[in-house]
Amino acid sequence: MNKTILITGAAKRIGKEIALTYSDLGWNIIIHYNSSKDDAEKLANQINSKNPNTAKIIQANLDVDSEVTRLVDEAKGLFETIDILVNNASTFYPTPIEDISLEHWTNLVGSNLKGPLFLINGLRDKLKESNGSIINITDTNLSKGVANFSIYSAAKGGLESLTKGLARELAPEITVNAIAPGAMLEPPDVVWTDEQKEKVISNIPLKKMGSEKDIAQAVKFIAGAKYITGQIIKVDGGRSL
Ligand SMILES: NC(=O)c1ccc[n+]([C@@H]2O[C@H](COP(=O)([O-])OP(=O)(O)OC[C@H]3O[C@@H](n4cnc5c(N)ncnc54)[C@H](OP(=O)(O)O)[C@@H]3O)[C@@H](O)[C@H]2O)c1
Repeated sequence: MNKTILITGAAKRIGKEIALTYSDLGWNIIIHYNSSKDDAEKLANQINSKNPNTAKIIQANLDVDSEVTRLVDEAKGLFETIDILVNNASTFYPTPIEDISLEHWTNLVGSNLKGPLFLINGLRDKLKESNGSIINITDTNLSKGVANFSIYSAAKGGLESLTKGLARELAPEITVNAIAPGAMLEPPDVVWTDEQKEKVISNIPLKKMGSEKDIAQAVKFIAGAKYITGQIIKVDGGRSL
């Protein structure tokens, strides 16, 4: 029986690479997306043409409680087990203190903290049955404090705290870890100038940006490492040193 991984925000970029990595291992893939329907369908077709009937897609906006509940219900019915949950979906944008609104809060906390928590809660029985793994994707920059990103940072910081607390609560059946990427990709719809890129790279000891593959490989390692739980693994080229 194939194992199954559910990845949120998997239609593009890092989530897509995690999906392709596990598809290469012969796993079933549940591709969650919110607005990127075409990309999600394209990815599912790509996977299914190689491994028939192993990829399914589910749409849900993680800001909306009822959609998280529906995502849980639909995901449970797709394949026999759920072995790995990767909370990868995220919104990311600045919220200078003078401009903060409740809408920003709902959106940034919904995708980065509340959605992941209720997804974990809804799927914990399934994950227990399979002695599964939860991987929460956070951000290496949190520890330094980032001006103008207070809500995003609080949400990702909350996700790291939740990782540690739930690692205790869900043990011994489920491992719960976080991966904190550094500078992997430019933000969606942003193209950095050479100057901006050089500035970012100058702060990274390994002197290069990371890639989607670096995160996918880290997921594969941590999810398979059954004596690691409650850890935040920084995949950042040493940027946080
Ligand atoms: N890229 C980097 O360099 C970097 C650095 C540090 C941390 N990270 C973390 O690594 C993870 C992946 O990064 P990425 O750059 O690949 O992510 P991304 O492209 O910014 O976002 C991934 C997906 O999240 C989904 N999403 C956003 N809001 C949502 C909502 N309300 N409900 C449901 N889905 C929602 C979107 O799905 P749709 O497109 O379907 O709407 C989007 O495609 C994220 O958690 C990010 O915070 C990335």
